[in-house]
Amino acid sequence: MEWSNREWLILFLIILVLLLGRNYMLVRRLQKMKRRENRNVALLAKFNQSQKMESIGRLAGGVAHDFNNMLTGISGAAEMLEAKMASKDPLKRYTDIILKACNRAANLTSELLVFSRNKGVDKGYMDLHECIEDSISLLAHGISRKITIRKSLKAQEFNIIGNHDMLQNMIMNLGFNAKDAMEEGGTMSIKTKNVELSSRRIQNTTHKVEPGKYVELIIKDTGAGIPKELHDKIFDPFFTTKGIGKGNGLGLPAVYGIVTNHDGTMKIDSSAKGTVFSIYFPVAKAKEKRKKKEGKIKEIKAKVLILDDEAILLELLKDMLESVGAEVITTTKPRDAIEIYEHKKDIDVVMLDVIMPTMNGIEVYEEMRKINPNVKVVLMSGYTQDKRIDGIVKNQKNVEFVRKPYMIKEVTSKLSKVLNGAE
Ligand SMILES: Nc1ncnc2c1ncn2[C@@H]1O[C@H](COP(=O)(O)OP(=O)(O)OP(=O)(O)O)[C@@H](O)[C@H]1O
Ligand SMILES: [Mg+2]
Repeated sequence: MEWSNREWLILFLIILVLLLGRNYMLVRRLQKMKRRENRNVALLAKFNQSQKMESIGRLAGGVAHDFNNMLTGISGAAEMLEAKMASKDPLKRYTDIILKACNRAANLTSELLVFSRNKGVDKGYMDLHECIEDSISLLAHGISRKITIRKSLKAQEFNIIGNHDMLQNMIMNLGFNAKDAMEEGGTMSIKTKNVELSSRRIQNTTHKVEPGKYVELIIKDTGAGIPKELHDKIFDPFFTTKGIGKGNGLGLPAVYGIVTNHDGTMKIDSSAKGTVFSIYFPVAKAKEKRKKKEGKIKEIKAKVLILDDEAILLELLKDMLESVGAEVITTTKPRDAIEIYEHKKDIDVVMLDVIMPTMNGIEVYEEMRKINPNVKVVLMSGYTQDKRIDGIVKNQKNVEFVRKPYMIKEVTSKLSKVLNGAE
């Protein structure tokens, strides 16, 4: 049977359609594989970044622990000296200087700690817009006239759970980077808006966070941009393109740590026309609002047992508490503390250092609970990655936590909270 031209043409078209269809499927499959590969590479990069930050965090944490112990000794001694001086004593100037320097040093350690995932930074219900306004007025002082700052804070829900100083530090770091990128002048825009982050959108950001309602903070410059090949490096500690004496390469790692610490995430878009950092923080519901801390030193009419392996700190804390009316027993040995607690039935509250070489404060607390399930405890630490502290403080109404270096105000406020069940 002879085929007509028409039949040949139809056969040709069928083969063509089949071939094209197959090709199309192949291309689709390849595209899918490529997308999956890209996703895996991005996931691996995120993993490497968080590993790096964690090891820096551990290092910083180790230093912070000892450093905070020393600071507690210095600031405690200065506070005691001040308390013993007459109100017009000219030497008070010097104790003031010591206390201010201690405060700054304590801030420095908490900045070091934000490198890690550790939640040792005090956070509370706060207004992000207010923090941005404060940061802009600071930034405006340090920026040349050739740069215009534009502000557009449009988020309707701008309250988050955060730490004002940390967030200010983050905004300043991003602002100074933007300034450095616009040596010839340009515009820095600082904006906010509310966004709903879906799991799909989260995939394009740096951190794995829960989908939901976020405040987006956008800091945009019209500077030189960040070359694509540097995108993987800019969050590395000590990575800088600014040359010796100009940059330390610690700004963006700190930003990364602060964002992590606030359960946030971020995204960077950069081209030769400029750079946009978009940072997302979960919106805080009004009921998460926390009570403002009271600022007065409280009288403590109670018998307090203190355990700390640092004898100097023990002595200081004893002096501090006796000066506000407490009766104090001290020991540097965990086993002794348990024994004293077991035999002296009139101890009202126990203060336990968390990190100690032989037995940690949480283990001591567990032992004391066996003696008295309602034991009242204030845990103390300069640094800890032990998530059990958070858990215990949240779940046990008789336990509070005070971070070193502590001020007498904070110690008395936490003690009276466990003693009276109210702050
Ligand atoms: N907005 C920006 N535009 C262009 N490049 C940027 C921008 N932000 C960061 N970079 C690049 O990322 C690098 C790392 O930034 P990072 O803030 O960590 O360190 P630094 O600014 O160099 O030093 P430091 O912040 O410690 O003073 C910078 O050196 C710069 O190359
Ligand atoms: Mg910087």
